[in-house]
This record gives sequence, C-alpha cells and structure tokens, in this order.
Amino acid sequence: MIPAHIYNDKEIFELEKERLFGRSWLFVAHESEVPEAGDYVVRRVLEDSFIISRDEKGEIRALFNMCLHRGMQVCRAEMGNASHFRCPYHGWSYRNDGRIVGLPFHKEAYGGEEGFKKKGQTLLPAPSLGVYNGLIFISLDPDAEPLEDFLGDFKFYMDYYTKQSADGIELRGPQRWRVKANWKIGAENFAGDMYHTPQTHTSVVEIGLFREPKAEKRKDGTTYWAGNGGGTTYKLPEGTLEERLRYVGYPDDMIARMKEQWSQEQLDVVGKDGFMVSAASVFPNMSFVHNWPRVEEDSDEVLPFISIRQWQPISEDETEIVSWFAVDKNASEEFKALSYKAYLMCFGSGGMFEQDDVENWVSLTSTAGGPMARRLLLNSRMGMLENGQNVVEPLTSDEYSGPGSTRIGYSEYNQRELLLRWADHLERPMEKAAQLHVGTDPIQAPAATEADPSRAAVGSTAIPADPILTKEA
Ligand code: FES
Ligand SMILES: [Fe+2]
Repeated sequence: MIPAHIYNDKEIFELEKERLFGRSWLFVAHESEVPEAGDYVVRRVLEDSFIISRDEKGEIRALFNMCLHRGMQVCRAEMGNASHFRCPYHGWSYRNDGRIVGLPFHKEAYGGEEGFKKKGQTLLPAPSLGVYNGLIFISLDPDAEPLEDFLGDFKFYMDYYTKQSADGIELRGPQRWRVKANWKIGAENFAGDMYHTPQTHTSVVEIGLFREPKAEKRKDGTTYWAGNGGGTTYKLPEGTLEERLRYVGYPDDMIARMKEQWSQEQLDVVGKDGFMVSAASVFPNMSFVHNWPRVEEDSDEVLPFISIRQWQPISEDETEIVSWFAVDKNASEEFKALSYKAYLMCFGSGGMFEQDDVENWVSLTSTAGGPMARRLLLNSRMGMLENGQNVVEPLTSDEYSGPGSTRIGYSEYNQRELLLRWADHLERPMEKAAQLHVGTDPIQAPAATEADPSRAAVGSTAIPADPILTKEA
C-alpha cells in the first residue's frame, strides 16, 4: 500500500535528493554523444552540473562544472568540442580532463606556486563513473558498488536496446521538456504499467498506429524484474526467430547482426518463448522504450524504434524529461530515418503516447499535494492476493529463457520493486562526504582537525581517485 502523498511532498523530495540521488548510479550520457577527443555534453544530477567530456587521450571524464575559484559554472554551453574550458568570471582555465592550466596573475595575485599550488588541481571528478554498452553513469557515492554489479541481470535486457550489433547504438537528441508531475510516476509506468495501455492509449490504437487491433493485447505479454531494473514485453505471433524479428519490423541485415551479438538465451526469449521487450526502467530514474508502429499510411509495414529517457527531478511536483532516440550504429541510413520518424510519432515532446501519459501524471501529482491525499493509502497490490500469494505464478525456466522473475499479464510487481528500493534508500542515513580543499596544504586548512574528521582535507593535490592525474602530478 502506497501513501498517496509521496507523489507530491516537499519533505520526501528533500530526502530523495540526499539519500537517493546522493548515492545512486545515474545515467548521464552515451559515449556516442562524445565520439571525438574534446567533445563534451553538459548534464545534470539534480542541481549539480557535470561536464561529460572525452579528453585528449580518449578517456571519458565527468567533471563537476563548478570553478575551483569562486564557483562559477565553467562551461555554459550544452554541448560542443573544446580543448579547454575557461571560466567566464575571472578566467581560470581547465583542460578537458579537468586540470587547471591557466590562472591569470598567478604570481601577482597568489604569490605563484608557493601561495597557490596550481599543479595537480582539477575540477572535481564525479565520485564514481561507470560505463555499460557505452551508457555512461555516475554516482555521487565514492564507494558505490561497480556499475555492472548494480545493473546485474538487467544487463541481459539492456542489450536488446543498446547492443543490436557489435558497434552498439548512436543517439539523437536529447529533447528536454518539463512536466508538472512527480518523477517517480514515469519511472513506475515504464517499469511495469501494461495495464494503462487499453484505457489511456485507446485513441492511438483506434487510428491504426499499431498492427494489433486491440490495446489489451498487452495482457499476453510479460513483466520481468532482474537486478535493479525491470520492464514489459509483448507476446509475438508464432514463428521462428527470424519471422518474429521481421514481424517487429527488423530487416534481415539487422537480424543477422543480432544473431551474432546476442547470447543463445537472449535469442531464445524472442525466438523460442516469443516475447519482445517494450518499456523498461532501471532504478531510480532511467527508462527505455521499444515499439514498432506503422509509419506509412495504407501499409501494413511497421518500423521499430528505441528511446532512452531520464526522469530528472526538478522538485516534488515537476520533472524534466530528457528523451533520446537510439538506433543501431550499423543500421542502414534508410532504417535510421524511418525509425526516427516512428519515435517522433510516439514519444518525445510531441509524441502521441507522451501526450496521453502526461495528462494522467500531472493530474495525479496535483491531487497528491492536498491534505486529503495524506489520508489515503493507494492500492498497489495488483497481481498479489490478500494473503500475499501470486495471482499468476512466475514463468519457469522451461517457459522462459531470460533471468529474473517474469509473469504473464497485468501486475504491479515491478512498480513495487522500484518503490522497495526507493524506500530502502530513504530509510538509510547518509554518511557525510569529505570536503576537498583547493590550492592549500591540508595543514594550513582551517577545520581539518580531529574534532570533525568528516571535514578533513583530502590534500592539496586534491583528487586521489584519479590515477592518471596523480601520476602526472
Ligand atoms: S569563479 Fe571561475 S575564475 Fe573566478
Ligand atoms: Fe503510456
């Protein structure tokens, strides 16, 4: 049972900022957005801005976008290519790996190296950084478990969206727009809400955007939960692997590459068990979509598209949706163009599904902010009887080849999985992070005493976590 006010509550949002977003793995960019040395994009983790750059050695960096001098945002553009970033305020400049290179009037103003140790100083790197299939994640927790451990068995499903051939995906976008809705609602919807499709998206089915004549077709699909993510699938008609992938709209050259790329189990989920991944979410706020609408009128042909998105919280009642189009790098230009069209019809700021969905989420959020909502426990028990037993048992390994817990039909297991993790984070207090000093020896730094060890200076060559910089320093 879910207290209704969690979808619009200032106090809860403050806790989420600290205890959830302060230590979770969060998606920020894909490697294909920064293919060349010097390429960068600027992304946020709530209020914290990060420059995601590819440095001159080809390493991916995530640099806290705050000048070490007086804290100005160093990089003000959203994307580009630069060997250096110069702070607009007083002109300190940094290489694209974060190291300070220019400090105007270093000698006159600071007394040179003696007064301010320039050497070894860098913009703060994100405390943890991990990459899977080119997807770049950061965590503000320096002790975060390795990204791949965190993703766990969900990686099996992520490959369908992000590894259809050896070269992986490329992205277009992102589109960004804000909706007056709590960030959790979208993440829950994409994780497991097959139940809303017949009601919310009736009109999309009525106009014939999908080959399936009825939206309730979704109840023949499955929901699965694996590792720290879960999603939904559609049931495919009888046929071989190739026939089923063709049904979804994949051309034969792409099918051949999928067969080379995916494991036998990954192929079996489609070819033997007959399920194709649709929407999914990774805890806490990243989602995927895969669908295959008709793009040409008067034709039975469908075209699949993939989208990656993030539910970036602005406040307890507002979310910035960041939505990318993703496509296999090795797909033909024709496929890419049509797939992009399919995506824009369905999702993104003008997508038909998007318009349907958001109206629900805005309304839910505003209602959850009033005093009556504090008295209501929402029933979120779909798929579970009152005694805790399942309405439908999970599929056995004979029926289903993928990892995790998978069930056919409507349920809210996945939404509960997300909220269990959410509650676990909110209940666990945070350890205080150490502060970093800039340009001074720890011994001279104030407040670096035993009295408050959490404020201890990490040292004047500030960033111990970075072996490359430490070596050169
Ligand atoms: S704040 Fe950046 S140089 Fe002064
Ligand atoms: Fe929807």
